[in-house]
Amino acid sequence: MKNIHSNIKKSKYLLEKNECVGIPTETVYGLAANAYSDEATSKIFKLKKRPKKNPLIVHYHDLNNLKKDCVINSNFKKLFKRFCPGPITFILKLKKNNKISKNVTNNKKTLAVRFPNHDVTIKLLKSLNFPIAAPSANISTKISAVSKKDVEEEFGKKIKYILNGGRSKLGLESTIIDLSTRPKIIRLGAIEIEKINKVLNIRLKYSYGAKQNYPGQRKLHYSPGLPIRVNAKQARQNEAFILIKKRKINKKNYFYLSKKKNLHEAGKNLYKTLRNIKRQNYKFISVEKIPNVGVGRTINDRLKRASYK
Ligand code: TXA
Ligand code: MG
Repeated sequence: MKNIHSNIKKSKYLLEKNECVGIPTETVYGLAANAYSDEATSKIFKLKKRPKKNPLIVHYHDLNNLKKDCVINSNFKKLFKRFCPGPITFILKLKKNNKISKNVTNNKKTLAVRFPNHDVTIKLLKSLNFPIAAPSANISTKISAVSKKDVEEEFGKKIKYILNGGRSKLGLESTIIDLSTRPKIIRLGAIEIEKINKVLNIRLKYSYGAKQNYPGQRKLHYSPGLPIRVNAKQARQNEAFILIKKRKINKKNYFYLSKKKNLHEAGKNLYKTLRNIKRQNYKFISVEKIPNVGVGRTINDRLKRASYK
């Protein structure tokens, strides 16, 4: 990470040439392209093997730029003030004269927007005169990437460049809230619903499986391609066992998300651990029960989807 300045310059150069670049964020790595360009954004779908009907998140660094493309409202202002830059994505109404490529939205009238909290990516965004569309940098339905190495593992030589920003601090995607209608959580994420409720002074609920009308919320997702058994008391033979609390005896197949049941730490380590288990050629995974509160709900949501057959 010594040459941050020249790395950002290189990313800028490629993005301006309508190429895709891997970028770091505090949640997970993104696969970035110029959000105003049809040519650039179409490459994202090809690389990710992502269905065209699944819209992308657009990343901004500045509210004034966002306002050129989207209509903001009072709930947005409250949440923006409290959490941005940070791991929250807002679905907003697009303005009529917006410049966003139709590929990004699949011709919808709404746009998912986010202000990522990562120094390197903020610097990159500031150097560009367009926002960047960036879904998570993984092949569609597979595990999200939380380091440069993970992105390499997903795409190999197919992408021109990955901007290194170290390991993602949070390790779970942003929480998505639809503000284009009555506020609705459409994806659990790194910010707990309880915190959003406090700011908006409402009680938002989220139920697994109820969001099938949103194209990105299909049940199979975040998948390591191995069967996962949740709420396990013990590992069976041949299983990698994921734990969130230190055991007295340590075994080769024990993988700790946290030593002391810290849910934020567990969230940060989730995708890294799943990848690690896969690299070690395990064929089955079991996970001990994870408390279904706060970020624990997000972890359980990801595990449920990862194990969906
Ligand atoms: O943390 C994150 O949000 C990461 C980093 C890179 O920013 N990005 C990310 O993007 O997770 P992606 O594409 O993997 O997930 C975005 C989700 C998709 O499920 C997509 O369907 C949904 O957002 N989405 C995008 N635009 C939408 C819209 N207009 N209405 C409803 N859902 C939308
Ligand atoms: Mg994703």
